[in-house]
This record gives sequence, C-alpha cells and structure tokens, in this order.
Amino acid sequence: MANSANVIIVGMQWGDEGKGKIVDLLCPAFDGVVRYQGGHNAGHTVRFGDQHFSLQLIPSGILHEGMQCVLGNGMVVAPDALLAELGRLHEAGVRSDGRLFLSDRAHVLLPCHAELDQAREAARGAGKIGTTSRGIGPAYENKASRYGLRMCDLSAPDLEDRLRLQLARIQGELTSLGAQPLARPAAYADQCRVWVDQLGPSLCDTARLLNGWIDEGRSLLFEGAQGTLLDIDHGTYPYVTSSNSTAGGASTGTGVPPTRFAGAIGVLKAYTTRVGGGPFVSELTGAQGEFLRSRGNEYGTVTGRPRRCGWFDSVVARYARMLNGIDAVALTKLDVLDEFDEIPVCTGYRVNGEVLRDLPPEQWMLEDAEPVLRTVKGWKTNTVGILDEAKLPKEARAYVDLIEEEVGAPVTLISTGPRREETLLCREQALAPLLAGRLDRVLAGRGA
Ligand code: GDP
Ligand code: IMO
Ligand code: MG
Repeated sequence: MANSANVIIVGMQWGDEGKGKIVDLLCPAFDGVVRYQGGHNAGHTVRFGDQHFSLQLIPSGILHEGMQCVLGNGMVVAPDALLAELGRLHEAGVRSDGRLFLSDRAHVLLPCHAELDQAREAARGAGKIGTTSRGIGPAYENKASRYGLRMCDLSAPDLEDRLRLQLARIQGELTSLGAQPLARPAAYADQCRVWVDQLGPSLCDTARLLNGWIDEGRSLLFEGAQGTLLDIDHGTYPYVTSSNSTAGGASTGTGVPPTRFAGAIGVLKAYTTRVGGGPFVSELTGAQGEFLRSRGNEYGTVTGRPRRCGWFDSVVARYARMLNGIDAVALTKLDVLDEFDEIPVCTGYRVNGEVLRDLPPEQWMLEDAEPVLRTVKGWKTNTVGILDEAKLPKEARAYVDLIEEEVGAPVTLISTGPRREETLLCREQALAPLLAGRLDRVLAGRGA
C-alpha cells in the first residue's frame, strides 16, 4: 500500500487566516481535497501568477487539474450558491466534470434560512452576531431540530409536505419579527427539482467514497472553513458560527474515522483579525489597526466588511494548538508587518489584576480583559517573496521564534504575499511527514 497521509488544515484564529492559499500550495502532495463544515459563509482566496479566485463552497483543490474535490456531510449547502460558483469557475476555464462530489447527507440551505438570519440580526440590534447573513445558523438549527432536508431528500416523494412543515416553522418566527412572507411550498418544491437535475450527477455517499480512496492509499487534505475561535463548541460563544470548525469536525463532517488522520496543519495570521461582533482582546481601534487593515487588505471576501485588526494573540493561538493537535503551523501575512518599528505580541490577558494564559469561557471576562504585551523590534525591510530562510531579516526570524515559543508548535511555512510563489518552507522535518513524502511536488508547484 502507498504511503498515504490524510491531513487537516484548520484556521487557528477567527477565520480568514489564509487557509485557501495554504491548501492551494499543498495540493500537489494530495489526491483530493475535502470540505467538512460550514457553507458559503466561507471565502477562501487563491492567487497564483495573475490569476485570482474566491471560493465559498468548493474546495480550493478544484483549481488543480485532476484533483478530486468533495463537499462532506457536515456542510450546509445552498444549491443556488453552489451552481453560481460552478458557473464562475467554468467561465474562468476551470472544469469540474467528474471530480466534484457532494454528500447526499449534506444539509440543504434554502433561501428562507438566509431571510431568517437577516431578520434575526436586524432584531438583535446592537447585540447582533454580525453573521455573513447567508442563513448558516438557521440551516444548522433545522438539522439539529430534525426538520432539515438533506441533499438526498430533494428527490423524496413527500418533498412538498416536508417543505411545508419547515417553511411554516420559519414563517412563524419571521412573522413575529415583522418580516415579509416566504414563497409558497409548491414554488420551493419546483425549485428543488431543478436543483436535483443540475446537481444530481455529483451526489453520492461521500463517506464510502472517501474511505474507499483511503483504502487504496490515496492521501486527502481536509480544508477547514472559519477558524477555531468561531467553533460552536470551543469558540467565543455566542459570537461564533454554527458548526465545528476545529479539527474534530473533519471526522464527523465526512465519515472518515479519527484513526485515519495523520495530523493537522494550523494556519495562523502573523497578527489577528475578526469580522463581526464579539470579544477581541488584542484589538487595535486606532491608527495602527487602520494601518494593518489597509496594508493587509483586511476586507471580508464574502461580505466586503472591514475586518477588525489587532496584534498577534498567543492566548488564542495556544488554545487552537491544543484543540486541533497542531503538528505544523503555516504563518501567513508576515509581510504586512514589514513597516512597523516595534511589534507587540499579546502573551496573556489581565483580568481583575490577574494574568491569564488560557482562554476563559466567560464573555464578560474577555470583554474586561486587557492584553499583556511583549514588544519586539520590527525589521523595516521588504520580506515579500523571500524563499530562502537565511534571507529573512533577523528581527523577522526572532518574531517567528517568539510565536513558535508562545504557541508550542513549529512554524513550517512562512507566507509573505498572497501568491502561491510567495511562500517560504522551513523546519522540513516537521512538514515532510504530513505530505506523504511529496514535499518535492509542493516545491515544484510553488515555482519561483
Ligand atoms: P481564508 O478564508 O482563510 O482562506 O482567508 P481569506 O482568503 O479570506 O483571506 C486571506 C487574504 O490574505 C486573501 O486576500 C489572501 O489573498 C491574502 N493573503 C494570504 N496570504 C498572504 C500573505 O502572506 N501576505 C499577504 N499580503 N496577503 C496574503
Ligand atoms: P473563512 O472560511 C471569517 C463569522 C461571521 C460572524 C460569525 C457567524 O473565510 O475563514 P455565520 O454567517 O457563520 O453565522 O457568522 O462567523 N464568519 C467568518 N469570519 N471568516 C469566515 O470564513 C467566516 N465565516 C463566518 O463574520 O462573526
Ligand atoms: Mg475567508
């Protein structure tokens, strides 16, 4: 049997760490890429040469010819969004024929879920979550309450009755929030039949498919969406998304048993950002935050909202290292820090005179917390596109060393620009075992 490795890539902060870029870079070492949770709330950007793609539901592997791509059972999939995304890819010359597989057990996200998401956010006023307004929460809620429809249910003989039940429940809440009436169940059923015609060929039992591939010795990459601190169980609740974005979700969200994974790579931005509401201890609300936002182009891929920016937060990153069992870190956007004289790193939280090194669950504690900062010297040199570790300015190397020490995991990739070509590989002994002996293919794919 070939030397296979199944590896999970996960965001270690509040999303938008650069997962799309890292998945795209590592693809040549794998035979397939699998999404396991979330929906079109995700926005994964991939750039190489002068090409630019933004992927929401489809795994970033689709841009690599011949790569198998799977949307797992843990996702909530809006068929209209998926079809639109496929259309955009086809227009850009990317063909997905025969290599895109959609779980027949994935839940269907319907337009009524988005309407409810938006009405709820409007009603919450100042306390709103700041969702992407795509309907993610209501779709997962329908799944948990056992009223949801799975992809396979779209061809059920009693589809219209099931839609009637689901729509009546949602309509009840929408009416109480003063929102517009929903379309009729018959109209929804007609729409569902069109979707089945269009997506039917991609639907299958993806758990069986994936386990079969692993039996054959193929290596798979599991592409997390969102980030650890947005996880419904482990994140900064209630300011979270509605799925398990941590590494554990890769098993329940695909049907691949935990025993079949080789490890996890965590993607960490060299500073911190978050979109939407919720506590953010190392946030910079003044000119430095604005500088990070404009230099890092920190605007949401999905909603275009400005991302909140702050210093690197070791409390968050350590917590993410523990929860995901991170074997190797990919550190992104180091270049964004190129111009600072000094760079503070948040190493702990001060709450009521006490210093915490671990993330507390209480929202009020996080809101009252002050960052404990350790400041290092900036490098004031352009790092974009450096491929040789020896050429990194010594202050930049010291910054990376501090992050490794604080987080407790090796930094094996350093990204200094949005393009595939702009990535430095280091600590190869930690990375190589996760790439099934195919590091050379990654280096060849990176070019430069
Ligand atoms: P994801 O959701 O984790 O895939 O991240 P996003 O794509 O939403 O956001 C990351 C953004 O940073 C994208 O616009 C990337 O093109 C960009 N990016 C990724 N890595 C780097 C890097 O090392 N430097 C710079 N300047 N931009 C990067
Ligand atoms: P990627 O995969 C950053 C945030 C929203 C909001 C909260 C709940 O690109 O990293 P939801 O619509 O999921 O109910 O919103 O989660 N959020 C993200 N933030 N990156 C994402 O995805 C996100 N997906 C959801 O801003 O705060
Ligand atoms: Mg994103």
